Amino acid sequence: MKFFIDTANLDDIREAKDLGILDGVTTNPSLMAKEGITGQDNIYKHYEKICNIVGDGDVSAEVIATDYEGMVREGKILASIHPTIVVKVPMIKEGVKAIRYFYDNEIRTNCTLVFSSGQAILAAKAGATYLSPFVGRVDDITWDGIALIQEISDIYNVQFFDTEILAASIRTPLHIVQAAKAGAHVVTCPLNCITGLLKHPLTDIGLAQFLADHRKANG
Ligand code: E4P
Repeated sequence: MKFFIDTANLDDIREAKDLGILDGVTTNPSLMAKEGITGQDNIYKHYEKICNIVGDGDVSAEVIATDYEGMVREGKILASIHPTIVVKVPMIKEGVKAIRYFYDNEIRTNCTLVFSSGQAILAAKAGATYLSPFVGRVDDITWDGIALIQEISDIYNVQFFDTEILAASIRTPLHIVQAAKAGAHVVTCPLNCITGLLKHPLTDIGLAQFLADHRKANG
């Protein structure tokens, strides 16, 4: 399973990269705004900075346009910033058309804002590289985000779709474990969810005991 970090914060991306387990980055317009990155040129430069930190890993950069021609125009610019850029396209009618265009022109895509298995089938048919079902936002309305990942995984397996399931809107370390079990190929989440996987009280107690015993024996 691949680990992507869901942020536009360069320090967090560097920290995840230093951990040695980072496979990529996802961003969205809200995350870019949160970092105070505004204006087309600055946004493109920021994507370049992210790509340079991540190295070989994929970096999702989202189009702002909502019409087919605009998405295609914007997606081509984004894809030209760096070879690791994956164009993030919303799950709307024009988006499906744009995903097919990008597929035919060998530009990789991440279909975002996915909340149903029907949408997942459409995105895979159009040729999306990645599919982003939003686990946390489904949970927010008391539906089951992990059950959605499981259902999409079952469908993609029986239909032999190549699209990778990128479990997005991951809010807790438990979500990561559940998404892995449900068949997600990728999870994307904030840094604290990744580091949260480290935590176990028995690890802390055990390490403290080992060090104490070593000190006692060695002075
Ligand atoms: C990633 O691709 C999504 O944009 C992101 O995971 C959404 O997460 P949120 O629901 O926590 O904003």
